[in-house]
Amino acid sequence: MKILVTGCYGMLGQKLVKKLCSDNAFHVIATARSTGSALPAKTLFYQLDITDPSQVNEVITRSQPDIVINTAAATNVDWCEQNQEACTLANTTAVKYLVEACNKAGAHLIQLSTDFIFDGTKELLTEEDKPGPVNHYGWTKLQAEQHIQTQSASWCIIRTVLVYGVATGINRSNIVLWVKHSLETGKPIHVVNDQWRTPTLADDLATGCYLASKKKATGIFHISGNDLLTPYHIAIKTAGFFGLDKSLITATTSALFKQPARRPLKTGFSIEKARRELGYAPHSFEEGLGVVKEQLQTYG
Ligand SMILES: NC(=O)c1ccc[n+]([C@@H]2O[C@H](COP(=O)([O-])OP(=O)(O)OC[C@H]3O[C@@H](n4cnc5c(N)ncnc54)[C@H](OP(=O)(O)O)[C@@H]3O)[C@@H](O)[C@H]2O)c1
Repeated sequence: MKILVTGCYGMLGQKLVKKLCSDNAFHVIATARSTGSALPAKTLFYQLDITDPSQVNEVITRSQPDIVINTAAATNVDWCEQNQEACTLANTTAVKYLVEACNKAGAHLIQLSTDFIFDGTKELLTEEDKPGPVNHYGWTKLQAEQHIQTQSASWCIIRTVLVYGVATGINRSNIVLWVKHSLETGKPIHVVNDQWRTPTLADDLATGCYLASKKKATGIFHISGNDLLTPYHIAIKTAGFFGLDKSLITATTSALFKQPARRPLKTGFSIEKARRELGYAPHSFEEGLGVVKEQLQTYG
């Protein structure tokens, strides 16, 4: 089965290409808007900026994939709030180009989405809960979801939450690495204690996408970790696990911690559907920290 991955040098993209390549049933076509670090040996690479409709059409027509997984996105939520047009182009308009090209090629589209499509009034959300984004990033991802649901011939939407892990050559940090690095360098940090999330190990998310690909699953799936935590809890647990100074961590609130984009307060997912229908079984947060530690020792 031919499977094309967009954004192959992102956090999820890297993990997913590796995971898919470990299964001989898949022929992996990795794409990114610029060239990056080495890919697994049997991967075919094409340069692809998903905001360019002619590139999208050309690469998908030429490679004729059975499945396209779109991990590429503008993911910096504050940047999205301040660059709304560019964010809409990457997160909504580009997805429309992908839908059109996939329909033409007869490819099944798997789109990555987010807990930020929700309004933050309910935790442990199910696939049936009603969306209501509170920032531009969430709005663009919801627009993409709605377009796919009405226009795509064959689709799956995988929503996830606060991804953490280790990848190579990425500028963007994530909560676990940020906390670890800050405390190791003696930097005091303020971390919000009134936002609830189910943090997701990047490797688990890649496995969830792999399982959905294997089954050519259709519909919406919530794929995240299983522990409902605040960023403050995450910071304290990270400090404890790596033996770092917890006294450098101060709890704060969303009202005091000013950021350009508003965050939904409560999110976090119920992952029962993914467990039941895909056989998805994520690590606990503590186990996830163990995986991070191991990967930092190997290639961090
Ligand atoms: N990370 C999270 O906490 C989180 C939470 C919920 C949902 N998600 C969703 O999960 C998916 C994967 O996220 P991630 O954590 O892997 O993000 P990431 O590490 O930021 O990776 C995103 C990748 O997309 C690429 N990209 C951006 N614009 C592009 C374009 N026009 N054409 C081609 N590639 C482009 C980026 O390339 P450059 O390096 O060139 O910019 C980057 O490699 C995204 O859809 C995201 O919205 C992530």
